[in-house]
Amino acid sequence: MNATRSRERTPSPEQSGVRWGIVGPGSIAHRFADQLPHSRTGRLVAVASRSIERARAFADEYADAATTGIHSYGSYADLFADAEVDAVYIATVHTEHVRNAIDAARAGKHVVCEKPLAVNQAGVFAIVDAARTAGVYLAEGYMYRFHPQTAKLVELVRDGAIGDLQHVDASFTYAAQLPAEHRLMNPALAGGGILDVGGYPVSAARLLAGAAVGELFADPVSFTGRGTVGATGVDEWASASLAFRSGITAHVTCGTTIDVGSRIVLYGSAGRITVADPWLPSVTDGSSIEIARVGAGVTAGLTTADAATIEVPAAYQYALQADALAENMAAGQSAQMSWADSVGNARVLDQWRRAIRLRYPFE
Ligand SMILES: NC(=O)c1ccc[n+]([C@@H]2O[C@H](COP(=O)([O-])OP(=O)(O)OC[C@H]3O[C@@H](n4cnc5c(N)ncnc54)[C@H](OP(=O)(O)O)[C@@H]3O)[C@@H](O)[C@H]2O)c1
Repeated sequence: MNATRSRERTPSPEQSGVRWGIVGPGSIAHRFADQLPHSRTGRLVAVASRSIERARAFADEYADAATTGIHSYGSYADLFADAEVDAVYIATVHTEHVRNAIDAARAGKHVVCEKPLAVNQAGVFAIVDAARTAGVYLAEGYMYRFHPQTAKLVELVRDGAIGDLQHVDASFTYAAQLPAEHRLMNPALAGGGILDVGGYPVSAARLLAGAAVGELFADPVSFTGRGTVGATGVDEWASASLAFRSGITAHVTCGTTIDVGSRIVLYGSAGRITVADPWLPSVTDGSSIEIARVGAGVTAGLTTADAATIEVPAAYQYALQADALAENMAAGQSAQMSWADSVGNARVLDQWRRAIRLRYPFE
């Protein structure tokens, strides 16, 4: 059989759907596996853990949702070698992402890798280089970028719904009481809020500052960061100010022990947009974007008469993230979460950690 005929007989992932393997069946892997059946293109066919028992337990949990069986592997390398896996979802702890994503790309697998793509910008460059060389798709798992609410927000800013965007205020905080050995408290696993949740407000500020000038994202020209490093040696509370070439400013906040809410508020020359639930909108109830416009001729304050609410239907954003891979495999990246975007985000997170003198023991 010649190569051409063989290619004709084997349907491409675009034709037959994308066969997904999950690497690192922990907490977030469950959320991805729960939502994958809601994607238009993907199905779960394999899972790998450092422990075959954990892989088998995960496969058993999702066996009913799979149209064919789910292969379980006790090593990531075995999953990467599985010819029946087209794409992998890397759901391991931060410090493993570079190794896992590069191994996956070199094995010819398309990759969605959880955020942060790498602990620092150098790691992001290494992963992007591996994806480019292998000719595979790569996206960092900032799932909110694939939600229609985010698309709507970008559209509102681009279309001048609040005039000229001037300031972005974005936060992702929670108050957790975690044991010192938990990955989020452990410097050896690149713990702390900046890498866990700080990347969300930074990425949103960059996205929206970009939308305001007709770009997919913008990178800040100045950065000032502050934060508090707790007893275990990772940041528990941090905030930062960013300024963009356009003159747009941003204030971003993240915390793992203090909860001041998680939202995006945009201030423009003609009003304000508030997104109450920007990162994890409900998958059952949908979400909403509030717009308050400055009334015509009004020079101060916002009139309630000019307020509007945009209802956004519920969506499975992890499934949409999987569909984006199916749609953009040939290009290698998607507009929602491009390689250069990840490189730029990592640079800001590096600056933020440098500003608070947070260096991990392995750096
Ligand atoms: N996008 C989102 O909504 C979202 C939400 C939460 C987390 N995340 C990201 O997803 C990633 C995983 O977070 P998670 O909360 O799911 O983590 P987790 O449950 O603590 O661990 C995930 C997997 O990582 C491996 N692992 C755990 N500890 C390890 C260690 N010390 N050394 C090497 N590997 C280890 C394990 O895989 P094995 O079974 O193979 O040992 C584990 O199943 C993080 O990078 C996080 O930032 C994203």
